[in-house]
Amino acid sequence: MRVGIVGAGTMGTVHTGSHHEAGHQVAAIYDLRPEAAAANAARVGAAVAPTFEALLSDPTIDLIDICLPTPLHRAFVEKAARAGKHVLCEKPLAPTLEDARAMIDICREAGVQFYVAHVLRFFPEYERARNLVLAGKVGEPGVIRTTRGGIFPTGWDDWYADYSRSGTLTLDMIIHDFDWLRWTFGEVERVYAKSLSTRTTERLDYALVTLRFASGAIAHVEGTWSHSGFRYGFEVAGSKGLIDFDSAKIQPVVVQKRAAEAGVTGVAVPESPLRESPYTTEIRHFGRCIEHGEIPIVTAYDAYKAVEISLAALESARTGRPVTLAKEAF
Ligand SMILES: NC(=O)c1ccc[n+]([C@@H]2O[C@H](COP(=O)([O-])OP(=O)(O)OC[C@H]3O[C@@H](n4cnc5c(N)ncnc54)[C@H](O)[C@@H]3O)[C@@H](O)[C@H]2O)c1
Repeated sequence: MRVGIVGAGTMGTVHTGSHHEAGHQVAAIYDLRPEAAAANAARVGAAVAPTFEALLSDPTIDLIDICLPTPLHRAFVEKAARAGKHVLCEKPLAPTLEDARAMIDICREAGVQFYVAHVLRFFPEYERARNLVLAGKVGEPGVIRTTRGGIFPTGWDDWYADYSRSGTLTLDMIIHDFDWLRWTFGEVERVYAKSLSTRTTERLDYALVTLRFASGAIAHVEGTWSHSGFRYGFEVAGSKGLIDFDSAKIQPVVVQKRAAEAGVTGVAVPESPLRESPYTTEIRHFGRCIEHGEIPIVTAYDAYKAVEISLAALESARTGRPVTLAKEAF
């Protein structure tokens, strides 16, 4: 697996290390800041590509990995697909559903594989919680709470602070939770949201989003770019018990059951999340999907649906009204 990476900012740096750890060869890196590309290339013995086209015209490169600000995703994915390369793109897939759909279509037409880096599915604590839910350990899920965030992010050209580019934390960050929630609890029917981004121009954002699932379950999703540090967690309340996770705790996963099989209550199930970086697990998986036809844990269609939920939340925050999602799949 030979990879060309576009973007050498925060995620380009993470992906460079993860490809290397996963045993992929990073052939070349392109960034419009050549010094950033050079710094990452030096870590893994890669070349610095002078242009994006240079990556595309290298016949030895199998996969193009796009780690650019969100509004650039579509143009770069389309070019990579047209050049016959498999594509990995950071989340969120795109700022609009029209872009997201077009990207999926072009990859399909070009016959290349297309993956979107919804990494939360590779965090062991989130995967474990999902497995517990699917195994019925908490009974029928009723109310789910998730939280994520911390400090206001800074990126190249301060693009996160320009909400016309980043789409606020509702598109950029809690899309992780939307994707995990949909993966775990099924399709979302209705979305209602409040967001600070509609009320202030300061470098602060905070959102509360309520999702109603087709199953009848309700999720309360909290996101913040108004605190310090970074913290994330969730709580799943079902008819038989609770699953609770808080990244600030030492024991990352705690299952509290109202009626455990053995008649014991308050069973703690700690697991280490530190086997390997979830980003490496994710990238190793996508590599195996391409090389060995492994079934992808997350598809581009899943990424599309996550964008749909984010955009519905933004619309609800803007209008003050709940948004009902379209039922049809494509
Ligand atoms: N999966 C996650 O956990 C996670 C975390 C953070 C960000 N992201 C996503 O990853 C993507 C990148 O975010 P980031 O934080 O790495 O951004 P960043 O600002 O840190 O890096 C962006 C890089 O792109 C380069 N660049 C900008 N325009 C370019 C162009 N036209 N051609 C070539 N290079 C160009 C910049 O020089 C910069 O190095 C975003 O979509 C973001 O939402 C995902």
